[in-house]
Amino acid sequence: MTLTQPLRDEHAALVPHIDVLASAADAVGLVGIVELRALIDASHAFLSDQLLPHADVEERALYPAVQQVLGAPEATATMSRDHREVQALTEELDGLRRRIARADAFDDQLASALRRVLYGLIISSSCTSPRKRRCTSRSSMRG
Ligand SMILES: [Fe+2]
Repeated sequence: MTLTQPLRDEHAALVPHIDVLASAADAVGLVGIVELRALIDASHAFLSDQLLPHADVEERALYPAVQQVLGAPEATATMSRDHREVQALTEELDGLRRRIARADAFDDQLASALRRVLYGLIISSSCTSPRKRRCTSRSSMRG
């Protein structure tokens, strides 16, 4: 086993959950509010209970080591930016989740906000998981 294998295993375990985010985003406007609540709750639980703790461990333990080995403090800057974006969008999703819990039905504004946040989370969370390579150029373009 290589030194990075545990991290690779953890990343592999995250992939199916990112697909749950995609299912929730795609379901907005196509399923009833009860079914969508369940998808949003599952998405939020994954983000809060698994992905953000994973990102926190990377920030505290992995990234300082990578920076030291590479002699480049900025080496993990784009990944840290993605982590902060996931945190912010997760908080926004929680707010939308609370609105949905009180709603009898969607309006267009709520549906648009849900799509924006969920698709944003798919992109940003893919950057903190095995799909990281796909978004390297996007992250780099943001400067
Ligand atoms: Fe990661």
